[in-house]
Amino acid sequence: MARNGKNQLLNLATDAVGPRDFSKSRALQPKAQLLIPGGAHTYAKGDDQYPEQAPAFIARGKGCHVWDLDGNEFIEYGMGLRSVTLGHAFEPVVEAAYRQMRLGANFTRPAKVEVDLAETLLDLIDGADMVKFAKNGSDVTTAAVKLARAYTGRDLIAICGDQPFFSTDDWFIGTTEMDAGIPRAIKQLTVKFHYNDLDSLQKLFDEFPNQLACVVMEAEAAVPPTEGYLAQVKDLCEERGAVLIFDEMITGFRWHLGGAQKFHNVVPHLSTFGKAMGNGFAISALMGKREIMRLGGLDHDRPRVFLLSTTHGTETHALAASLETLRIYREQNVVDFLWKQGERLRALIHQSVAENRLAGFFEVVGRPCNLVFATSDQEGKRSEAFRTLFMQELVRRGVLAPSFVVSFSHADADIDRTADAVNEAHVVYRKALDEGIDKYLDGRPVRPVNRRYN
Ligand SMILES: Cc1ncc(COP(=O)(O)O)c(C=O)c1O
Repeated sequence: MARNGKNQLLNLATDAVGPRDFSKSRALQPKAQLLIPGGAHTYAKGDDQYPEQAPAFIARGKGCHVWDLDGNEFIEYGMGLRSVTLGHAFEPVVEAAYRQMRLGANFTRPAKVEVDLAETLLDLIDGADMVKFAKNGSDVTTAAVKLARAYTGRDLIAICGDQPFFSTDDWFIGTTEMDAGIPRAIKQLTVKFHYNDLDSLQKLFDEFPNQLACVVMEAEAAVPPTEGYLAQVKDLCEERGAVLIFDEMITGFRWHLGGAQKFHNVVPHLSTFGKAMGNGFAISALMGKREIMRLGGLDHDRPRVFLLSTTHGTETHALAASLETLRIYREQNVVDFLWKQGERLRALIHQSVAENRLAGFFEVVGRPCNLVFATSDQEGKRSEAFRTLFMQELVRRGVLAPSFVVSFSHADADIDRTADAVNEAHVVYRKALDEGIDKYLDGRPVRPVNRRYN
């Protein structure tokens, strides 16, 4: 797929198509497996999530490019599990964090930057009156659940069962295949409803009258809400006395600067943010209505809620990084750029799907600011083997892509280079459909994270 006038740029990520030298990565893998359960500190980054012929460790990144231990360069997507929205080592954010770091990372009393970031965030998220910071998305979402339980005096949690992830904590992981170590008593406290199916939520409220403390969901994941659905969910929560919690870990600062709640014009009672807040620095936030949030504070006479009080929750340089990240979002229309570049990539991939007769076998799904891909085999069944083959062929062409989640650093040249790599990978995909995948897949297929056994 020749594209005009940018051939010099095309060399950025690849010198040639073909197998790369991963010898330094290979040498470190056994040690990582021996020392760290799973070989990585996040399951989504683990060896079982990538083809065998892929970089195992990243040495450094700049913008949307990364270099592995062996010096191979890749255009990357996914970007720190969607946390790096501006780009790796993005200079103004690094500088802001460094300036703050030189003043001290953590004190015996709060730092002013805590109030500065609180004010900035509350200015962006319309319906929220108060905010509390932490380091991980899981922690703030769990805190939202705790607050909802304290506020309502109820125990049960209703989660959207069609959305993949809300927290590393037991109330959520207990609902997955990977529930070893979680007591049955805890698991019984979380129940599931279906997205875009108000009846399924209504049934839960009927089955467990006055028992549901909260409804936890992403306003939107792979599928957009049907007309009026989110507003109806909120109305139902209010009718039945439950707290509506939007998990904005992925949607926050991608769908809209004011979150998916602004994009869809439905304000939840509580919402949680992380990932995009700090361009990769560890920072997350629980936000919401004063009436609920204040239970974690000092000015009420109800039983006190132990709300997100941690040693490192307000590490000052992460807050400074977040302030700078949000300033750049606001001043440089970052969200518009993410949508525009995602759309450019999606259009080119659609073209490649058509050229290679892959309709029904390869699909790009989601909003342009958050594209993922789905792979199917000859029978049209979802296939991890074909996912692996596709990623393997992209790696051979200098693209590391567990998804097609773009950042502010994905320039036109990067998108076009990626589209060329996708087209070539699709040629191999087509041949594998026609001739059998074994001939083309070099190693074992990837596997889902949340499985019961290895
Ligand atoms: C929708 C959603 N909620 C919550 C989390 C948990 O965030 P963290 O990994 O920062 O704890 C994630 C992480 O991937 C997520 O995608």
